[in-house]
Amino acid sequence: MHYFSYAGNQLYCEGVSVEALAKKHGTPLYVYSQATLSHHFQKLDAALAPLEHLLCFAVKANSNQAVLRALAALGSGFDIVSGGELQRVIAAGGEPSKCVFAGVGKTAEEIELALERGVYCFNVESEPELQRINRLAGRLKKTAPVAVRVNPNVAAQTHAKITTGTYENKFGVAFEQIEVLYARAARLPHLRLRGLQMHIGSQITGVGPFEEAVRKIVPLAHRLRAAHGLEFLSIGGGLGIVYQPALASGSPWWWESAAAKDLLTPHQYAERLVPLLRPLGLRLLIEPGRFIVGNAGILVTRVEYVKRNGKKHFVIVDAAMNDLIRPAFYDAYHEIVPVRRRRALTVKSDVVGPICESGDFFCKDRPLPRAAEGEYLALMSAGAYGSVMASNYNSRSLPAEVLVNGNRAAVVRERQPVQAIWSGEQPAPWQK
Ligand code: LLP
Repeated sequence: MHYFSYAGNQLYCEGVSVEALAKKHGTPLYVYSQATLSHHFQKLDAALAPLEHLLCFAVKANSNQAVLRALAALGSGFDIVSGGELQRVIAAGGEPSKCVFAGVGKTAEEIELALERGVYCFNVESEPELQRINRLAGRLKKTAPVAVRVNPNVAAQTHAKITTGTYENKFGVAFEQIEVLYARAARLPHLRLRGLQMHIGSQITGVGPFEEAVRKIVPLAHRLRAAHGLEFLSIGGGLGIVYQPALASGSPWWWESAAAKDLLTPHQYAERLVPLLRPLGLRLLIEPGRFIVGNAGILVTRVEYVKRNGKKHFVIVDAAMNDLIRPAFYDAYHEIVPVRRRRALTVKSDVVGPICESGDFFCKDRPLPRAAEGEYLALMSAGAYGSVMASNYNSRSLPAEVLVNGNRAAVVRERQPVQAIWSGEQPAPWQK
């Protein structure tokens, strides 16, 4: 669900007109709804209430300081994948003791930072990483809390680029090798075996793959708990959201849309998984990113030109693949709606950005209300893996971001000044 809806012909984010925001702050502009992300956090948190649990928001999905601050205030923990993310979380008021540190390539500097700040756990992805953490912890006279990421070899039934839990992927340690590895890790003096972790992929829209993976690892977790006294089990993130039209169908409530019929809800997720997990008696961690913020953000863009070539109807907008790369990278679908509804008549359109690549498109041959120069469009469900994946390609500034809360709106990231794009660059000495 989300709090973006039309009042009359105007798109609103909670109580704030999106067009007014676009006029005031310019475009491309990310607009986030605080009520939406809070709602998702609370819904999932409540569904897991029967278990002792900690929800660790996957910072990679949206690392804006204001977003992290809102989640920290709700009691969220954080799933981080770099030293930079750890520092961001701390800057936003998050607690390191509620952070889990994931990733296949943690550097010595990142591990030292995390040890000094006292993260809840390192989610470890290989034996050499365990040895490195042990060595660095010894040097700092600390004991490092670790969990190994088990690769359960379960197909997540999602896009290949966001599947992580099979042996085709670089992630985790093979299911069959885990127990031997824990036994070896137990002999490393500066480690504490605190948990077991898994994550099978992202944008998983049915509970089936989660259930299959949980059924597979529960007996393993049981044995590891008995052998090493584990404290928690993390089942990762990956809960999918609805990207398909809900707004166009007249309802902003995605669970009322046709596409939502089969969709995973927090209730279903908990109903199927809690009974499997409860007998373990372990603390449960989950690491959702997209589910919390995906529907909570939109990317607003202005139509620059409309161009027809006899075959195609191109709507050229001022946002591009550098602002939102998901359609170009994953063929991802984002619903596109007019910020002010004027015309009912639709025309098959390619909405494209100004970047010099054919991959720079947001949709192809999609029936959309005819749009004219100067009008604004909104790319829906862009709150997760949107601004965080933005780049300066074509020397385009990173977009501004606004957070809305009820009738209030605040710029939570200024548009990057163009000179800042090359501020770290300099001529070589022989060019001066
Ligand atoms: N935990 C781990 C270990 C992960 O690797 C990820 C995401 C998450 C949690 C959070 O997954 P989520 O709940 O957001 O599905 N850029 C892609 C998604 C990449 C996901 C990477 N890992 C996209 O735009 O679809």
